[in-house]
Amino acid sequence: MSGLFITFEGTEGGGKSTQIHLTADWLESQGREVLTLREPGGTPISEEIRHLLKHSEVNHNMTAEAELLLMNASRAQLVREVINPAMEAGKTILCDRFYDSTTAYQGYGRQLDLNSVATLIDFAVGETRPNLTLLLRVPISISQERQQQRRDEAAENTAAPKGSTTHVPLHFDDVGRDRFEEADRAFFERVEKGFRAISQAEPYRVKVIDATKSIEEVQEQIRKLITPILK
Ligand SMILES: Nc1ncnc2c1ncn2[C@@H]1O[C@H](COP(=O)(O)OP(=O)(O)O)[C@@H](O)[C@H]1O
Ligand SMILES: [Mg+2]
Repeated sequence: MSGLFITFEGTEGGGKSTQIHLTADWLESQGREVLTLREPGGTPISEEIRHLLKHSEVNHNMTAEAELLLMNASRAQLVREVINPAMEAGKTILCDRFYDSTTAYQGYGRQLDLNSVATLIDFAVGETRPNLTLLLRVPISISQERQQQRRDEAAENTAAPKGSTTHVPLHFDDVGRDRFEEADRAFFERVEKGFRAISQAEPYRVKVIDATKSIEEVQEQIRKLITPILK
């Protein structure tokens, strides 16, 4: 028995988190065992690397090279500790970002040598490749609007409801500053170009979805693309 590995890609605010939740509910309602993951992250080691990459107060002068290596270190751990065993157990894995984000952000965005980026990705993942990649595309202006919307929603939700139980979180919470959101517009334009190049290079694996449509329409499109690969 072999599982199914589906990745969700695209710039911030494209609706990856939203659509992963909806897709997981849909697949679970069909009796599938679904595992949702995020990159960087998904194991205790990888979540610490995530914190270092995104939120840590000491990350201000991180070099592009260190960023590339840390992304792949997080990934190497996730692939061997979680993804490969889950695939062998026949589970359906939905992953929020995977190696295409490294090609787009560290390769195109940070302008690191694309051959070196590809070599490091190959080393990090070995034979593990997504069966399907859903690229949620929105223009930069909508990406920025939705990031603001998400920050507003998060701010409204910080006050814990009365009577709620506190529990030890499994992961670092994504609160406060994110180093990636500090990049300039030219960076995000290069990232967008990177995602376009990836979808053109691998049209069978990578499916582009117009994510400016409503949440329901995007979900319908996703279900249409996943249905043919369900066994
Ligand atoms: N299709 C959509 N139309 C309008 N708003 C959306 C849509 N998809 C997501 N959003 C909203 O945009 C914000 C960012 O969505 P999110 O799923 O967190 O994106 P991502 O995980 O790709 O960064 C959230 O406030 C979400 O409710
Ligand atoms: Mg998200």
